[in-house]
Amino acid sequence: MTDENQGKTKRIADPEEKKEEAAFDITLRPKKLAEFIGQEKIKENLQIFMQAAKGRKEPIEHVLLYGPPGLGKTTLAHIIANEMGVNVRITSGPALERSGDLAAILTNLEDGDILFIDEIHRLNKVIEEILYPAMEDYALDIVIGKGPSARTLRLDLPKFTIVGATTKISLLSAPLRDRFGNIYHLNFYEDNEIGKIINRSAKILEIQMKDSSADQIAGRARKTPRLANRLLKRVRDFAQVKADGKIDDEITKQALTMLDIDEFGLDEIDRKILETIITKFSGGPVGLNTIAAATGEEMATIEDVYEPFLIQIGFLKRTPKGRMATEHAYKHLGLDDGPNNNKLL
Ligand SMILES: Nc1ncnc2c1ncn2[C@@H]1O[C@H](COP(=O)(O)OP(=O)(O)OP(=O)(O)O)[C@@H](O)[C@H]1O
Ligand SMILES: [Mg+2]
Repeated sequence: MTDENQGKTKRIADPEEKKEEAAFDITLRPKKLAEFIGQEKIKENLQIFMQAAKGRKEPIEHVLLYGPPGLGKTTLAHIIANEMGVNVRITSGPALERSGDLAAILTNLEDGDILFIDEIHRLNKVIEEILYPAMEDYALDIVIGKGPSARTLRLDLPKFTIVGATTKISLLSAPLRDRFGNIYHLNFYEDNEIGKIINRSAKILEIQMKDSSADQIAGRARKTPRLANRLLKRVRDFAQVKADGKIDDEITKQALTMLDIDEFGLDEIDRKILETIITKFSGGPVGLNTIAAATGEEMATIEDVYEPFLIQIGFLKRTPKGRMATEHAYKHLGLDDGPNNNKLL
């Protein structure tokens, strides 16, 4: 990762989906709630309210799923549709540009259908305004004509459900957020849950692997299912080329070392961010834009991709004055002096 501009695409630890992963994702994506590992509270809630809606023969209330990339938002949206036995129509905030597009989608839905809107925080205002009555009253208001003679015509819509997904709930407008009856926050997974996900994927892909090797991969997958699956795939490739295809601890260790992922799952860029904060800014607090400028990474990428996990593992703190590296970060990077003595650096 020498070329700055290549950093993002080459980065193994980037939890965003890569294009070439889509097919792989589909085979590994759980289809039923029972196959979905972890997020127990969310599953329990979903189970109850889906069952209740089925009993009443009503569509489920609108669902909003939020949390960092790669934790299972899209997967859950498909599971909900699957469990309810309804069709799912997929779109995204930036794709819904014109009101006509949205009207066409809405009028083509059937009762009970799910409209999945990914990146829902990126909807434009005009589209949002159309969604309000659609979500609340299953109605579409169409304006006919212009100027003083303009009239509004109200069309009835099928009783559908919106499942919205976002990595940035803070960017969602309050009126839109309030129209979701169910709001779920997906959190990072426990390492043992990630281990189960890896074992499940290995079974589907018919990979032979030792339990201890699954644990080893799990520890470096940043508590993120998408990364766990990605690492498994890389280790499998390595095992196939360097050994007889079976994954053992030695092969796993070699593969992970080659990928330059340390025992916490941090890669070169995570380390660069932390090192920059510590050595150039005395451990912080330092503003996000300053970190971006000093590391050559984009501000949005640092905020959405790198930072959530660094905060989760307690290496980084967000304060009103900016980001601060914690004592754990100093220790991990071998800068043992800690925040109090960092003037020596
Ligand atoms: N709980 C889980 N159990 C098993 N596999 C999972 C789980 N959650 C996610 N996965 C796997 O991780 C992959 C990524 O999940 P998904 O695409 O649903 O993430 P996402 O939250 O929608 O990410 P993004 O914000 O980037 O859209 C899925 O293809 C699936 O194989
Ligand atoms: Mg998704």
